[in-house]
Amino acid sequence: MKIICGRKHVVGTADRMLYGHFLEHFHRQIYAGVFDPSSPFADEDGFRQDVLDALRRIRTPIIRWPGGCFVSAYNWKYGVGKDRVPVYDKAWRVEESNRFGTDEFIKLCRKIGCEPYICTNAGTGTAEEMSDWVEYCNLRSMGRYAKQRIANGFSDPHRVRYWSIGNENWGAHEIGAKEAREWGRLVRESAKMMLRVDPTIELSAASIPDLDWNLNLLREAGQYLDWISIHGYWGNTKNGTLPDDYDTVILHTGADIAGSIDRVRAYLTAVGLEKKIRIAFDEWNLRGWYHPNLMDSWDRDSLCGEDEAFYRDKVLGERDKNDINAIYTMADAVFSASFLNTCLRNCDLVRMACFSPVVNTRGAIFTHADGIVLRPQFFVFEMYSGLLRDTVLQQWSEDVPSISGHADDETKTVDAIDVVVTCGDKGYAVSAVNKDPKTAHTVELRFLDGTPREMRMHTLNGPSPDAYNDVGQTQVGVTVGTWTPFDGTFTLPPHSVNVIELR
Ligand code: AHR
Repeated sequence: MKIICGRKHVVGTADRMLYGHFLEHFHRQIYAGVFDPSSPFADEDGFRQDVLDALRRIRTPIIRWPGGCFVSAYNWKYGVGKDRVPVYDKAWRVEESNRFGTDEFIKLCRKIGCEPYICTNAGTGTAEEMSDWVEYCNLRSMGRYAKQRIANGFSDPHRVRYWSIGNENWGAHEIGAKEAREWGRLVRESAKMMLRVDPTIELSAASIPDLDWNLNLLREAGQYLDWISIHGYWGNTKNGTLPDDYDTVILHTGADIAGSIDRVRAYLTAVGLEKKIRIAFDEWNLRGWYHPNLMDSWDRDSLCGEDEAFYRDKVLGERDKNDINAIYTMADAVFSASFLNTCLRNCDLVRMACFSPVVNTRGAIFTHADGIVLRPQFFVFEMYSGLLRDTVLQQWSEDVPSISGHADDETKTVDAIDVVVTCGDKGYAVSAVNKDPKTAHTVELRFLDGTPREMRMHTLNGPSPDAYNDVGQTQVGVTVGTWTPFDGTFTLPPHSVNVIELR
């Protein structure tokens, strides 16, 4: 495989928010995830210090919260103040204690050093409730909500810059689902009220790569928006614990992802907003979350009342299947790196991405009573956020090896090698993914404006495509080479994610 590139041919500057994350009130992401006052690892505010350390290690730039489907029936006012009244979570059909709310979320972000990104309730919520939330967070002292925040012990505003109006309100699965036309109007009216509270905030709105949905949204509310939010999960979750195998997963790294970005780019261009509005891929993961699909099952015999056994076994017990660490293998690392490379190749438009989620469920960090497990995806974020430079170069490639197979009831062919070249003041950093499960591949990389003299290779890998980490087992990790002369080529081991530094 040959690649040619040069500093004069630039895609754009990659925003660090491409390496962002998402946390929802679902299963063990918040409670027993980042927030666990009963844990021996808990700090004075109840946050797990081992989890905070891991999030700092991957330089988390932004966290989106509190949902996801959860938010579409969430009343934020129950989650602030001294008396936190438990409520029934109609999205996920469990009790929400409300012990973790806005102020705890802001504390979390301040401890990690990342931006808070709040997704508001456009399901059962109103423009007034959304703008009240902005008052609570961002007004210094005017009005009842800022005064409530002060009374709750936060004299300074939280200064939340990033806000999303709604979550997947386009889908029948969502509480408060909307038609395209009503969605555009609700976003417009909500945006007007939120911006009248704080005109400095940046606003996103739930969207999908669909023409009618976007044309309505952008015509009605485009003037108020800075972002458009799209989501993607590609791996099978039909039976939760039997996920797609490695060979199937790498076939998901193809045109589907780039295609959704291309379609949204086309919609923005069609209405002349491609210079104003950026894409926030603010929920993405290879694997959709496994939640027994209670939202749509009305088997009255098993779902009646508050049957303790039903909740223990059928709701919470089923969700614990997300915690099987053997599910998360080098397939997850290879997919995640390929996804981020697609975002980097579109970094002129895709400026934020939130891995969904980052702690537990399908996340990069798994918590247990005695510590944490770093799943393969974790190291992708550590390498990308720590090593890649900010400028993404265009590239010309030829002789790219490919892999074909059968997935989603069709034959798919994807590039076996996925490379993105970045540069900065301190030379180059090349992300290079070898999806091939069996064969190493050598890449010839030529620079139009002078070849670097030395290279250092960082390789994320395990003994097989199905290697994984678990409690008491470490099969997947990063090896760092030494600086060696660069002859214009590097060789990528099978099923590996690599970052090659060049200087
Ligand atoms: O499976 C989790 C859900 O996926 C999120 O709550 C929602 O935003 C998406 O549909």
